[in-house]
Amino acid sequence: MTRPKVYVARRIPEVGLKILSEAADVQLFSGELPPTRDELLSGVAGCSGILSLLSDRLDGEVFEAAGKQLRVVSNFAVGYNNIDVAEALRRGIAVGNTPDVLTDATADVAVGLLLAAARRFGEAARAVKERAWKTWEPMGWIGLDLRGKTLGIVGMGRIGEAVARRLHGGWGMRVLYTARSTKQSVEAELSARRCELDELLQHSDFVSLHVPLCAATTNLIGEPQFAHMKSTAVLVNTARGEIVDQSALEIALREGQIFAAGLDVCVPEPLLAESPLRKLDNCFILPHIGSATVVARNAMATRAAQNIVAGLRGDKLPFPVSA
Ligand code: NAP
Ligand code: GLV
Repeated sequence: MTRPKVYVARRIPEVGLKILSEAADVQLFSGELPPTRDELLSGVAGCSGILSLLSDRLDGEVFEAAGKQLRVVSNFAVGYNNIDVAEALRRGIAVGNTPDVLTDATADVAVGLLLAAARRFGEAARAVKERAWKTWEPMGWIGLDLRGKTLGIVGMGRIGEAVARRLHGGWGMRVLYTARSTKQSVEAELSARRCELDELLQHSDFVSLHVPLCAATTNLIGEPQFAHMKSTAVLVNTARGEIVDQSALEIALREGQIFAAGLDVCVPEPLLAESPLRKLDNCFILPHIGSATVVARNAMATRAAQNIVAGLRGDKLPFPVSA
């Protein structure tokens, strides 16, 4: 019997490749960079499964290029804004992702960014590297305090809650949040309060973004929102770059509308060499490393592969996504 073919868009941890290779012939794209559009379109031809990365756009054209035998696509990520889920489901292609297992890793990065931006780690570390560290400075590198401040979580889902638990538990922060639905257990355990975005922005010292990217959240934080924020506020984004209007962010940081930003995501990725954000001392940027720990990446590989194997069998995916 011929084995189904599965396209894997980049090398992922071995544990995932092993699960896949027991059920299918793995066509691994092993380039250091993502496949180009042409490489993706030709690579998926004849495949019954596609294991994609967040940098691969999967849409009708890709599904068409794969062919009618395509049964399942599984993203090596929890966010799936790179996949046209409605189009996949319309064609009877199941879609999966890797929730939960990267929640702690990503929440840790959000807290790290908050600390780095509030306490000016970027500028201070650069001074050491560039030999500008002259002495212990009683008036130098003064940043913001964290204890007892107000934290605004935009999107109180898995990662938002994990960030709120860290900062409420560790630093005694008051928690405001937005979500589509009220989170009763979070309200009870963290004394968190749900409110409208404008109110959250007005009262928060730290604002951390955790909504998925979709039409409703694109440019959710732009000029009018920065105008609501405190001049001492710090914005943290580990969600998706497109949720923040980057030109408005640059102005807000340059003109002191907010104190600083800590970003794990931006537009495009990587950020353009000439982006003004790279030059701003009060913008601390990481190269999208939220889930980059051994445990998280192995578990993501496992979940992404388990989705594919279930989809090839025609079973319900263990970690499905709906439109
Ligand atoms: P999640 O559990 O689904 O949480 C999303 C939250 O956003 C929920 O509270 C949800 O509200 C809210 N929400 C959804 N759609 C919304 C809308 N249109 N308007 C306002 N709020 C909305 O997701 P998660 O696992 O925490 O992940 C969140 C995002 O983080 C992912 O989508 C991904 O883009 C990003 N991420 C980044 C990294 C990284 O490496 N930097 C790693 C992992 C994830 P309800 O609960 O009421 O539905
Ligand atoms: C990473 O950004 C993810 O969505 O898993």
